[in-house]
Amino acid sequence: MESDMSGMKFSTALIHGGVHEDGGTGSVNVPIYQTSTYAQENIGGVPKWEYSRTGNPTRAALESLIAELESGAAGFAFASGLAAETAVLSLFESGDHILLSENVYGGTFRLMDKIFKNFGITFSLADTTDAAAFEAAFTPQTKAILIESPANPLLTVTDIAAVAEIAHRHGALVIVDNTFMTPYLQKPLTLGADVVLHSATKYLGGHSDLVAGLVVVKDASLAERLAFIQNSTGGVLAPFDSFLLIRGIRTLAVRMDRHALNAEKIARHLAAHPAVRKVYYPGLETAQGHAIQEKQAKNGGAMVSFELAPERDIKKFFPALRVVTLAESLGGVESLVCHPATMTHAAIPKETREAVGITDGYLPLTVLNMLALMLGAFLTWHIAYRLRGLAFGAKVLLLSTLNPIYYVSVFWVYSNTLSVPFMMALLDLAVTIYSSKSPLIRFIGGISFSITFIFAYFIRPTAVIPVIALVFCVFCYRGRLFAKETLINQRFPKIWD
Ligand SMILES: Cc1ncc(COP(=O)(O)O)c(C=O)c1O
Repeated sequence: MESDMSGMKFSTALIHGGVHEDGGTGSVNVPIYQTSTYAQENIGGVPKWEYSRTGNPTRAALESLIAELESGAAGFAFASGLAAETAVLSLFESGDHILLSENVYGGTFRLMDKIFKNFGITFSLADTTDAAAFEAAFTPQTKAILIESPANPLLTVTDIAAVAEIAHRHGALVIVDNTFMTPYLQKPLTLGADVVLHSATKYLGGHSDLVAGLVVVKDASLAERLAFIQNSTGGVLAPFDSFLLIRGIRTLAVRMDRHALNAEKIARHLAAHPAVRKVYYPGLETAQGHAIQEKQAKNGGAMVSFELAPERDIKKFFPALRVVTLAESLGGVESLVCHPATMTHAAIPKETREAVGITDGYLPLTVLNMLALMLGAFLTWHIAYRLRGLAFGAKVLLLSTLNPIYYVSVFWVYSNTLSVPFMMALLDLAVTIYSSKSPLIRFIGGISFSITFIFAYFIRPTAVIPVIALVFCVFCYRGRLFAKETLINQRFPKIWD
């Protein structure tokens, strides 16, 4: 039933790959083998078809089709893109570390953060567009990198060959989520990747009528391990959905060509529109990574992201749309639009999202900024008061309120990361504790800060930098406070005492 497509053009392989003909009837289409099990002749044999979790002819046709299209050793079909990712991540074990590209799909982040982390597989986000920063993110435990290019949703382009070379130098497996490109536009295995995965729900299915995931591996040993995982964990694609997916893939070339043509027109139109602040489309000459995209992919793809101008009300934008539907997902024949911060990327903590540039856009930030400014002023005064007393606190407050740089910096810092007021509050508490006369309170304070630091390190290693800064501040001040302790405490009795 399997066919040999070697030597065929890609668009021919789309139509004829995977299945040649049905042995029994000559059926041109892959039949739906809607069966859970197969009759066996006797005990002790090794039947080709045994049980449909282990193997099913319709699914097998799809698996061999995608393996051919991605130029890999073997393909595997799963019940969703995330089931495919779960199977791939099951290649790793407790103690392993995985590097994710910064802009990954929210569900990938959630899978690592809320599921695999519980099994001792840690991860961190890395900027895959900056080779030095990316290489610095490797640890001796890093066993794989999982990247998207262009990445969801800011369409950040990564040089797959370059990161694969770095990863292989560190002995890490290269996994590429090729959902946004499909093998028609980009073939990661030929660029150095070891594993390619797809949410086939998207362009491969192409009609928004199924949920599926596909994996293709480069070599036979990975194929053997993944086949074992697929059968052991069991998140396989059903025969009917396998049939639908084969049907969708047959028209991939014509759909992707037209999608990309339309996407580029829309991107250029939006880029010139006064209501739009920024457009992200790798096919535009001005886009980040455009040259790399041209080198490793056929065109810029069919996804366009954009930010509305700040004065436009995003809440009015969505209801005013005609033809384009507000919905999660992508890759169907119809045009969809989504708001990543509240939809596809809601699973990523706001702070992490904003750090990589996925903003909420329409939140009433002016009110938040005013509150943050007031909180900043209060904390500044309070720290100064704790250090030197009321009069000094008042002077610092007065000086800072007269200084425009203060407003600009507080406004900028507070509106960008909510962790800063929290850090300021901790610093305030630290100063209060360390300026205490009681050695017991200072001792308890010191212990609690060390515990906070250790927790912060394990919970979110990226938060370690501000925490180190905080501890550094506390210890710097500690010496000065002890030197002046008698004077300060005589003049301003502390609440802690
Ligand atoms: C890039 C990418 N990878 C993986 C997934 C998950 O796929 P599925 O929804 O089929 O589980 C998605 C879903 O939106 C996606 O956009």
